[in-house]
Amino acid sequence: MRLLPLYSAAGLLALCLGTLSISARTPFQVQDPESPLHQPAFTVPSALTDTGRVPVESHSGPLPYESWLQHTLNFTHLAPVIRQLEWVHPGPLLNRGEAHVTVVTPPEFDRILAPVGITVADLDALALQAGLQHVPFKVLCVGRQRLVSPEKAADTLEAYNLIVQADAWLDLRWDIWRLFVQRSGEPSAFDPAHFWPHITLGYSHRDLFVEDGMYKGINSCWRPVEMTTTNE
Ligand SMILES: *[C@@H]1O[C@H](CO)[C@@H](O)[C@H](O)[C@H]1NC(C)=O
Repeated sequence: MRLLPLYSAAGLLALCLGTLSISARTPFQVQDPESPLHQPAFTVPSALTDTGRVPVESHSGPLPYESWLQHTLNFTHLAPVIRQLEWVHPGPLLNRGEAHVTVVTPPEFDRILAPVGITVADLDALALQAGLQHVPFKVLCVGRQRLVSPEKAADTLEAYNLIVQADAWLDLRWDIWRLFVQRSGEPSAFDPAHFWPHITLGYSHRDLFVEDGMYKGINSCWRPVEMTTTNE
């Protein structure tokens, strides 16, 4: 396959994918018929990114996987995106009926932060200081991850999500890292950049995670998105 110069490919991609700000690091080749460049775009209401008035949701519990930090979104504006996915997807998909971007994952909280005494209240306080609910973010593409089921080889597990990006989320994770180090955490044990922000749209059996070896970055872009100001 002939490779286009990186920058022209990236330029074309940025053009074709509208507000998409995938940088020169884009993994896609324009000639590839499977490339998201050649696929119809999903429309995403821009109201989805307007979360200043959506109430903060704090998640904390005594059991593993009950504690994390999230930027809360309004599901009303995600529902039409899920409908577009259901329209093109051959089989049924499960969804959670809510919309959020996880900023600190449950395994990070349980295994890394909680052991040095950091609480969800600490994370919520840093999030409030950073204005988490007011952070503007970009929707880059619809991502898809697939995995042959480790439980049952005949099944392919699939997950779909909006891949999103905001520098402020990363800045907040660095604030959390500073707190972690202040509390005598080992600096190398919490990596603020070990972070793949996304909004879950649906999945075939169960969601897929980094722990499954699935990375929800622009590497997993599957369809372009077009932001619209009207609903649907
Ligand atoms: C979500 O958006 C809908 C439609 O704009 C609105 O009626 C509702 O109040 C919003 N809910 C929250 C929690 O912001």
